[in-house]
Amino acid sequence: MRSEPRGLVFGILFLVCTGARELGEKNVDITGGNSAKAQVSATGSLEPEKGWSNTSTAGVQDYEGDPILRPSGLGEWLLGDPTVLQLGDELHLWGNEVFHGILHFSAKLTDVTNFTKVETSVRLPGANRAYAHFDAARDTVILFYEQYTPPFFRSSRIQWVESKVDGNWKWSAPTLALEPALEWEMIGTKRVGNPFVFFNAQVSKWWMYYSASSVHLDDADIDEPLHLGLAQADDLRGNWTRVTATPLAIKGGEFQNATVLGIGSLKLVKGMNGDGTPRVALCNRVTRHDVTHVTGSTISSLKSVDGGLSWQVETATLITPTPAAEPNTWKESYVYGFDTFVSPSDSNWTLVFYNARNGWRHAMEAIGVSRVRPQSILRI
Ligand SMILES: *[C@@H]1O[C@H](CO)[C@@H](O)[C@H](O)[C@H]1NC(C)=O
Ligand SMILES: *[C@@H]1O[C@H](CO)[C@@H](O)[C@H](O)[C@H]1NC(C)=O
Ligand SMILES: *[C@@H]1O[C@H](CO)[C@@H](O)[C@H](O)[C@H]1NC(C)=O
Ligand SMILES: *[C@@H]1O[C@H](CO)[C@@H](O)[C@H](O)[C@H]1NC(C)=O
Ligand SMILES: *[C@@H]1O[C@H](CO)[C@@H](O)[C@H](O)[C@H]1NC(C)=O
Repeated sequence: MRSEPRGLVFGILFLVCTGARELGEKNVDITGGNSAKAQVSATGSLEPEKGWSNTSTAGVQDYEGDPILRPSGLGEWLLGDPTVLQLGDELHLWGNEVFHGILHFSAKLTDVTNFTKVETSVRLPGANRAYAHFDAARDTVILFYEQYTPPFFRSSRIQWVESKVDGNWKWSAPTLALEPALEWEMIGTKRVGNPFVFFNAQVSKWWMYYSASSVHLDDADIDEPLHLGLAQADDLRGNWTRVTATPLAIKGGEFQNATVLGIGSLKLVKGMNGDGTPRVALCNRVTRHDVTHVTGSTISSLKSVDGGLSWQVETATLITPTPAAEPNTWKESYVYGFDTFVSPSDSNWTLVFYNARNGWRHAMEAIGVSRVRPQSILRI
């Protein structure tokens, strides 16, 4: 998801990089294919189409061309927390860097692994963990996201910006949606973030799942979300009020030899949440190995039979980091911020776009995609 640079180092980088922002962006390789591009021009031919390979979890495959998007801005070491939305015959993806805000990419529906940069939607450093919602009534995209307070990134709030879908991408000034207020939203860091927003027809309200507070992972020197909360509103644009005074529970799904430290984020699975029960979601859970104390993050699938107020783990190890026996991959340590999309070429697959980290301390984060059978998400 992120590393949150702290203290003086961040303050300095903040000043340097905001000044250099424009320069950084002109030199981007937004398709994440520095090496792939070099290869194309060197050989004069296109790389063969990449495929999908099975993982150790049945019904889950990794894209062989992962990662599909890497950080490219000056001084950046991460591009994370993708959210995806179909607009016409394109799939749009937003993800954030540390200093350059929330970047906007698009791909043809016929090739949802080949994204190119469209624009920067939120330019402020510390804008991250977005969720994109299409408002058909107004023909706009509303981008809910978490904004850290520069320069130290120790507190955050959820806000939104909005743009017409007319190709110009003129984003409104940010509006506040939710601020940390409860005790369990101010542990470690004072934060609410990772918004996931949808219209809950069962209660005729807009709902927003969010994460709150953080746990510090010493081995990677990063802060990751701790608790899961729920807010609601009569209008998509607010006002948001809390549905529960306590964090939402996620039950079951223990990992072998590892303890769950925190709940990274929760999003409903697109295409699997009709009118009925159960509700189906994915969630990344942050873990620490009981013996080695090495931390990790794994995407699990969940179901809820009480309308989304409490959750039960279905498949604990849906999308995992690569096994310790295969080090030095792009997802060696954590798989975390994600969003889902039904595969446009085969509705029997759900695409999961997520970001991962290639180690612990001083590591890099990039965005990749896996695909999952619905039966592996919700066991029937
Ligand atoms: C991937 O897994 C499926 C289902 O278990 C199997 O039918 C297929 O042969 C496997 N593919 C490869 C390349 O191993
Ligand atoms: C990726 O998409 C871009 C923009 O549509 C296109 O120019 C490029 O040829 C595509 N690359 C591949 C490998 O298909
Ligand atoms: C939202 O809250 C603000 C401040 O409390 C208030 O001024 C405004 O009228 C409220 N809006 C709605 C739609 O309830
Ligand atoms: C868990 O620990 C037991 C006992 O040390 C070991 O046999 C087993 O392989 C471990 N499993 C994993 C997944 O690490
Ligand atoms: C999805 O799977 C079902 C059952 O296996 C099959 O009948 C159907 O043709 C598949 N759909 C697609 C789009 O491949």
